[in-house]
Amino acid sequence: MRLIALTDNQLRAGHGLKWGRVQDDVIPADIAELDFAVAAPIRAALSAAVDRSDLGYPDYTSGTPTQLADLFADRTRRLSGWRPDPRAVEVCAQITQALCCVILAFTRTGDEVLVHSPTYPPFVEAIRSLGRCPLLLPVGNIGDDDLAEAWAAVERVPRLRLIVLCQPHNPTGHVFDLFTLEALAGLAARHDAVVFADEIHSEIVYAGTECHSIASVRTAAERTIVFTSAAKSFNIAGLRCAVGHFGSRELHARFRRLPWHLRSGASALGLAATIAAWESCDSWLDQLRAQLSANRARLMDSMSNFRHVQFTPPAATYLAWIDLRATRVGSDAHGLLLNATKISLQPGSVFGSSLEGFVRLNFGTSEARLELMLERFGRAIETCDGKGRKK
Ligand SMILES: Cc1ncc(COP(=O)(O)O)c(C=O)c1O
Repeated sequence: MRLIALTDNQLRAGHGLKWGRVQDDVIPADIAELDFAVAAPIRAALSAAVDRSDLGYPDYTSGTPTQLADLFADRTRRLSGWRPDPRAVEVCAQITQALCCVILAFTRTGDEVLVHSPTYPPFVEAIRSLGRCPLLLPVGNIGDDDLAEAWAAVERVPRLRLIVLCQPHNPTGHVFDLFTLEALAGLAARHDAVVFADEIHSEIVYAGTECHSIASVRTAAERTIVFTSAAKSFNIAGLRCAVGHFGSRELHARFRRLPWHLRSGASALGLAATIAAWESCDSWLDQLRAQLSANRARLMDSMSNFRHVQFTPPAATYLAWIDLRATRVGSDAHGLLLNATKISLQPGSVFGSSLEGFVRLNFGTSEARLELMLERFGRAIETCDGKGRKK
């Protein structure tokens, strides 16, 4: 089972959000999808389901979801050491859908919902459109000096009912340390708030970092709902399948009181693909990790050439959060770079209103395409920023 990089022609022939909508001379590095072929066992499982015409309603009460719950519990135990109870597992179509459900089930209009800034945009959209108030806490660990005031401020809010934690964090690739998870657990306990942990990126963590789940923090476990999926690591986001775990029977029961059609909807193919991913694709995932690790090292090397570019390598994920505020590319980093480089990067402004000078670059691609992107990126920064080169 090999990791296969897709060619430009293969990628451009698709209709997805990443490659389907850019001009032929643009390389998209914005949407969080991989430029690699889906692992062979997943493709085989999908083909087999299609060949059997097995595309009816999935049986959500037994069979596949139960198998998926067991697999999720085993995998979590292996990867991060905590022990989910398979009976406390729910299967939804999407993590963002699960968050909407959790907001509806556990908060009221006007309540505050803590999220980290920068924020994965659908989180804030979900919180605002459901009439709750996003409360932004800058990303970082509890010991960071410049965050002391922000932590003190969130402690004082009157109606904090839900803490949304993205661990590892998108877009920064930050992994919150155990002290920070304990501090968040304490905050949740003092406010009697529920914790929703999105761990979709937890399978891509680089050497030297330990990524803990907040569900493994004793004081948070009973108030924590963890959701994850195979969508990002195995590149199957269009198939719609997410798996969640509820830390207590009460949390689970309250979630289940929501209408079934609101909180379900995983597709037959999504279930089949997720099972294949978690059961049979570990060696493919190891190859992906090795490729991403090499790409990350190449990116670090390249970014270190530019005096005005600030770049903290991500501890996890295949997303690089790059600070261009000190360069002349400046506030319209995305527009200028798209024109100058023909690389489509995700503008920082979508992750928060004061983040125009940042861009997010997806390096989940082949070595050759990354090289081309870095060459174009370097040329654009040099053109705008002439004397900014370090070496
Ligand atoms: C942190 C995070 N959560 C959730 C998602 C999307 O997951 P879903 O489609 O299951 O809502 C993404 C997609 O990039 C993501 O980065």
